[in-house]
Amino acid sequence: MKSLYLGLLFAIICVIKGNLVSANCPCKSASLCEPVTEKYNKDLAVFGGGDNGNWKKWNWTEITNVILISMANFSDIYCFAHEHNVRVTILVGAGDFHKLPDPQFRQQIISSWIDKIKTYNLDGINMDIEGPAATKEVVDGISALTHEAHTAIKTINPNYIVTFDVYYSPFLADCISFLCYNYTAIASATDYMIAMDYDASLDLVLAYSNSPLDLLAQSYNQYINELGIPAQHLVMAVPWYGYNYTCSKFYNESGGDVCVIADAPKSQSNFANIMESYHNNIDGLKYLAKAKTPYFTTKINGIYHQYHFDNTESLTYKFQLAQQLGLRGLTMWNAGCLNYESTDQGIQKQTRDMWNTITEYFQLLKAK
Ligand SMILES: *[C@@H]1O[C@H](CO)[C@@H](O)[C@H](O)[C@H]1NC(C)=O
Ligand SMILES: *[C@@H]1O[C@H](CO)[C@@H](O)[C@H](O)[C@H]1NC(C)=O
Ligand SMILES: *[C@@H]1O[C@H](CO)[C@@H](O)[C@H](O)[C@H]1NC(C)=O
Ligand SMILES: *[C@@H]1O[C@H](CO)[C@@H](O)[C@H](O)[C@H]1NC(C)=O
Ligand SMILES: *[C@@H]1O[C@H](CO)[C@@H](O)[C@H](O)[C@H]1NC(C)=O
Repeated sequence: MKSLYLGLLFAIICVIKGNLVSANCPCKSASLCEPVTEKYNKDLAVFGGGDNGNWKKWNWTEITNVILISMANFSDIYCFAHEHNVRVTILVGAGDFHKLPDPQFRQQIISSWIDKIKTYNLDGINMDIEGPAATKEVVDGISALTHEAHTAIKTINPNYIVTFDVYYSPFLADCISFLCYNYTAIASATDYMIAMDYDASLDLVLAYSNSPLDLLAQSYNQYINELGIPAQHLVMAVPWYGYNYTCSKFYNESGGDVCVIADAPKSQSNFANIMESYHNNIDGLKYLAKAKTPYFTTKINGIYHQYHFDNTESLTYKFQLAQQLGLRGLTMWNAGCLNYESTDQGIQKQTRDMWNTITEYFQLLKAK
């Protein structure tokens, strides 16, 4: 009985292993659907996908991990990435936060993630489980989910990776908004954490930077020195988008252009569209002193708008910070925010410059 049972178990394990390279490999050779085994010490990750062939214009020189944010049209990216030893992982969420203390619920989620990895021959997951964790049970549920997912996924194949997106600050808004998780626990169960260095304006009255350098420097200090998370465990995610603020009031005083945003809509807008709007600027590009990010103002049909965003200059300051701190790598949200289709040479140059700048600073970070 016992040996029959063992035999069966063995057979099941073989079936599972045999299934690892799924029959529906979209690449020209089935071997391209094997997990990538390269061990990268530094990572240039890319959030992207579903972009109708624009990935061909990415600068692939240094990319180590493509994190799919859409499963549309991903086959071509997948095969190209695997030919170049680049991992392809997928952004996943956790659904209903308040159920996370329930081990069975966590198990279901993890199974669905593993199904995705196997079905599409992916190299792992990127956990993007943003939201308020209002009780210690939910905070511990998030840690447990991360730990259990990491164990299950590494058991199947140690070359798979688990990464986790964290807020720009571990003590966001002094934690009153319940957006603080147990980052020590999360760090110990991930290959690396991606610090989302954006949506960082807490100013509800005036238009302000999406990604202020001074605040980021302070927040990395909290992760690294207060929580003891190694710099080598942190990847910096910079925004390739910004904010389009409608000004409910606008004052042009000697000190600068004051855009009051109370009771007025704001929206996110990608780099390409913001650069398009720049043609309508009133007074040129200006920089915030501490945040070191650019902004400009437009007036259309009598309504003022102020755009706060990042360009190669402001990103360079951030990349230099990453280099000084010795972070593990760089990434951006997201690759699709650039214009890849324009025939205008100026716009083509903007797109190329954004890619080449992140690539160049990643090379410097690697060389350090
Ligand atoms: C996928 O590619 C097709 C054509 O190749 C395109 O029509 C479609 O818009 C693309 N889907 C996405 C989400 O980009
Ligand atoms: C965070 O998790 C670690 C173990 O992973 C544990 O030792 C620590 O007590 C937790 N911190 C809090 C505040 O719960
Ligand atoms: C900015 O927002 C306004 C509406 O509030 C909209 O008309 C405009 O197209 C937006 N511009 C960009 C670049 O998103
Ligand atoms: C602010 O005022 C100066 C001086 O009058 C003017 O040159 C500039 O265009 C104004 N800026 C905006 C955004 O209205
Ligand atoms: C990629 O970026 C690097 C660093 O800026 C640059 O040297 C290289 O020419 C770029 N490659 C392509 C294909 O654009």
